[in-house]
Amino acid sequence: ESQPATSHLITLRDLSGRQIGDLVRSALHFKYACQAQGQTHHPDLPLQGQTLAVVFSKRSTRTRVATETAMAYLGGQGLFLSPQDIQLGVNESLRDTSQVVSSMCSGIMARVGAHAEIEELARYSQVPVINALSDTYHPTQILADLMTMYEAFSSVSPAAQAGLPLPPPASHEDLMAALRGLQVAWVGDANNIVWEMMMAFPKLGVHLNVATPRGYDTPASVRADAEKFLVPDSDVTPRLTFTHDPAEAIRDSHVVVTDTWVSMGQEAEKAQRLQDFAGYQITQDMVRRGNPAENWRFMHCLPRKPEEVDDEVFYSDRSLVFQEAENRKWTILAVLNALLVNKTF
Ligand code: CP
Ligand code: NVA
Repeated sequence: ESQPATSHLITLRDLSGRQIGDLVRSALHFKYACQAQGQTHHPDLPLQGQTLAVVFSKRSTRTRVATETAMAYLGGQGLFLSPQDIQLGVNESLRDTSQVVSSMCSGIMARVGAHAEIEELARYSQVPVINALSDTYHPTQILADLMTMYEAFSSVSPAAQAGLPLPPPASHEDLMAALRGLQVAWVGDANNIVWEMMMAFPKLGVHLNVATPRGYDTPASVRADAEKFLVPDSDVTPRLTFTHDPAEAIRDSHVVVTDTWVSMGQEAEKAQRLQDFAGYQITQDMVRRGNPAENWRFMHCLPRKPEEVDDEVFYSDRSLVFQEAENRKWTILAVLNALLVNKTF
């Protein structure tokens, strides 16, 4: 009898809106248990004795810290392996690495260059593989972004004002009530972060308006994938628009979001990119010119450089960036719990 295929998290494209919502709700539940109820570790330590290989071919602060602390909470441990430590890609194929590492660990969290590399790791792994960033997708980041948007726009606001985490929404419908109809403006480079948003936001009823400079358009294949998800749900038909005019993307938006103009691996293009992105820096003036929603907020996956957003916006009350960063931990915890503990997808 053949074994069921191992579950992986490669991109949110592969998940339903319901599955994405369940991960976000689980993350909100963990945050509440730890911060409002004082829990320090999972009461059952369900991953005791288990190891997650954290195989990163690029630098990371948030994803690595979130993953290792989440494993500790579940009673297991993360084993960080950089290209300086193991043979990966230098002296041994991804296929062989995947077979060997997955024979000794319960899961693999991998940060790679080309997206094909994470697919290759998943193909030959006996255990779940989680994409910790590829050149086209960053699923765990967008789970944290959705969680942060729920916290910022839920009508259950008194707890947030007191600095406490919100009680987790009781149902998928409660989560959707906060997210459905939100409008997000992406102003910056078209990259792994915004493409992952395209794979998830429409399924949660979140509209996305993308502004990039000419020459930095989203590839047609990514657009086509995303457009398949633009189906009506309840009374909202999600929208996905593309423009070269930041003001057009910002109009009526609840969230303005950007990312670095020079992603990891693009360092040689830096001078050209700084020139090409002229006029794209997020400032109070720039956002005001676009006429956003009155209660607009700013998001950024980090790490941040001042060229894409000035200090005034970045450190303002409108900025959700540090909450968003912390939420990487709760959402990665939810993913590890789903894949390694509950084995639910
Ligand atoms: N946002 C994010 O993935 O940050 P790190 O590169 O620090 O992990
Ligand atoms: N677009 C950025 C995201 C970093 C988290 C990069 O790929 O470097």
